[in-house]
Amino acid sequence: MKKIAVLTSGGDAPGMNAAVRAIARAGIAAGMEVYGVRRGYEGLLDKDVFQMDLRSVSNIIERGGTFLCSARSKRFNTKEGVKQAAESCREMGIEGLIVIGGDGTFRGARDLCDEGICCVGVPGTIDNDIACTDFTIGYDTALNTTIEMVDKIRDTMQSHHRCCIVEIMGHHRGDLALNVGLAVGACAILVPEEKYDIDRDIIAPMKRSLALGKKHFIVVVSELMLDVNALCKEVEAKTGVETRGCVPGHIQRGGSPSARDRILASDLGYYAVQLLREGQSCRVVGIKDNRIVNYDITEALAMKKDFDYKLLKMAREISI
Ligand code: F6P
Repeated sequence: MKKIAVLTSGGDAPGMNAAVRAIARAGIAAGMEVYGVRRGYEGLLDKDVFQMDLRSVSNIIERGGTFLCSARSKRFNTKEGVKQAAESCREMGIEGLIVIGGDGTFRGARDLCDEGICCVGVPGTIDNDIACTDFTIGYDTALNTTIEMVDKIRDTMQSHHRCCIVEIMGHHRGDLALNVGLAVGACAILVPEEKYDIDRDIIAPMKRSLALGKKHFIVVVSELMLDVNALCKEVEAKTGVETRGCVPGHIQRGGSPSARDRILASDLGYYAVQLLREGQSCRVVGIKDNRIVNYDITEALAMKKDFDYKLLKMAREISI
């Protein structure tokens, strides 16, 4: 394989740049031409690519976001779009494509493989919702960023004897909410993996802790589950504790990648290039039990990720 390309697609995640850097450097070291595709599949359709040299990826390992830019392409999400993107690859002579993103990005890669383009997927999303890997690129940074932010919120809650309900990203996955909740000592954590009951899961633990002398509270709620402002009113009415809501949104997705994300991204990016060199296609890379692994894309997309209910139970038990 002589000519490969890399794109980032879907929501950006800290560490994507470190992965692109590893891919460019590993590809060039192996004697390949490496192209960067701007704006994900959208850019592939438009043939918006540029050849990268060793210096194209200098000074990006520490930067958040993705310097290639990203998109959620509607045009690509059709049969014609996929065919056209495969045609673009053939016209540009691109034999192998590495895609960095989440499940949606991998579905796109699988469709391109069906059209004869060799693809390898690298998991990059703050949601940690990809079953074939224990950790996705960006998750660790988002966890640390959000914990730091909630620690700051706590200062005010503690000073004013208030409660704050914080909405955490994660799409339909509760890893970020659970681990943020545990790490900030939240008195209640709601995740999409479990049916919630406001009285049982928030009001009762708050009242129990109030009776034991606790004066301020952090409640963590995964996004897309409920209306935070309505919940604030309900909590305040039922507990008598002044309650505020906080929806940090995309702050959770930004910032310089953590050490873990830089290392994971470099490892996975490098490995993805080796797979293409070996002539493998339709694969997704990941890390399982601290070992770098790869799976067939279709198999990876069908896998189900376990949720750590034991950790949730423990977090609740010790937040008293
Ligand atoms: O997948 C990453 C993520 O940040 C999710 O946590 C969130 O639900 C979604 O993307 C938000 O998407 P957008 O940036 O397109 O609003």
